[in-house]
Amino acid sequence: MIAGKRLLRVLEGEAVWPPPVWLMRQAGRYLPEYRRLRAEAADFLSFCLTPELAVEATLQPARRFGLDAAILFSDILVLPWALGHTVSFEEGIGPVVCPLRDEEALARLDLARLAEAIEPVEETIRGVRAALAGEVALIGFAGGPFTLACYLVDGRGGEFAYTRRMVREQPALFERLIERLTDAVIPYLVAEAEAGCEVLMLFDSWAGLLPPPLFQRFVIGPAARIAAAVKARLPGVKLIGFPRLAGVMIEGYARRSGVDAVSLDTSFDPRLARTMIPAGIGVQGNLDPFALLAGGAGLRREAQEIARAFKGRLHIFNLGHGVLPQTPPEHVGELVDTLRHCD
Ligand code: CP3
Repeated sequence: MIAGKRLLRVLEGEAVWPPPVWLMRQAGRYLPEYRRLRAEAADFLSFCLTPELAVEATLQPARRFGLDAAILFSDILVLPWALGHTVSFEEGIGPVVCPLRDEEALARLDLARLAEAIEPVEETIRGVRAALAGEVALIGFAGGPFTLACYLVDGRGGEFAYTRRMVREQPALFERLIERLTDAVIPYLVAEAEAGCEVLMLFDSWAGLLPPPLFQRFVIGPAARIAAAVKARLPGVKLIGFPRLAGVMIEGYARRSGVDAVSLDTSFDPRLARTMIPAGIGVQGNLDPFALLAGGAGLRREAQEIARAFKGRLHIFNLGHGVLPQTPPEHVGELVDTLRHCD
């Protein structure tokens, strides 16, 4: 048995039972204490960039539910903001960014601004570290270059049709955009780890929009460059990749990206993990967020089925995507309790 935090033990190669648990979007509007805190900030971006508030938002779910990890409270679009891009979050819409569709706009993404702009994020991480209970791991994150490109090119969430056209109609421009974003994600993740994050997660939420050859080029390739660069600087840091909706393409991602674990979305059958994901790579997931929303006996049964399906593997329990804002907080407590007593 490896000593230390349960979540880190899994990432170091020990199958821990019952599995450690944390949830994507564990901080957020479903928590009344989050809504109260959120009301103190003028807008979502300044909420993310005010260390005092972001530290508290990070700690709230870990404290309330006794989870095995806290995830830095921030957003994947803080990175483009830190490169000087115009980013805002609008009530009822989500992120809205100035569409980036030509060489001039690409040239304005300014890596020289990054280090100074992300100082509040580093201060938040140091604040969380100082306050966090000994057993709780701290996860930092960045958006995958492809998902960041989706928001930058289209300007907001949706089908990302403009991005998917640019991939084919302006491949050289798109390639340079991905390269530039990859060049930015690397120092951003290194800064998060140096400030105190032990685990880094790459959220490539829209990776599954691409067909296999383009998935290799714009998802696996950049993830591999990021993993190699971060590990060259900080060999001890652990990486989790989340190429959401990748389907069977997750196998190539698990084998070639260099991450320590892959996060599986709701659509992935846990039984397939045995054959598709090498035993040395961790698996995270993958309860349906709607099972958590519904609660009750169904939630307990589905959670146990997933935990048992991954038993003996390097498994971190999580959702297949984020906690839904309408989720009753008690259901999270029920989920954690079910897992702690799972046999
Ligand atoms: O608790 C945590 O998981 C940590 C914080 C976190 C947020 N966003 C906070 C947030 C993390 C890890 C993210 C990642 C993120 N952000 C992703 C990747 C994961 C995924 O969900 O696919 C993406 C695609 C984004 C972009 C983004 N930010 C969207 C699409 C939205 C709008 C959707 C929504 O729920 O409103 C956001 C806003 C956002 N990011 C909120 C939170 C808590 C809600 C805003 C608010 O509280 O007003």
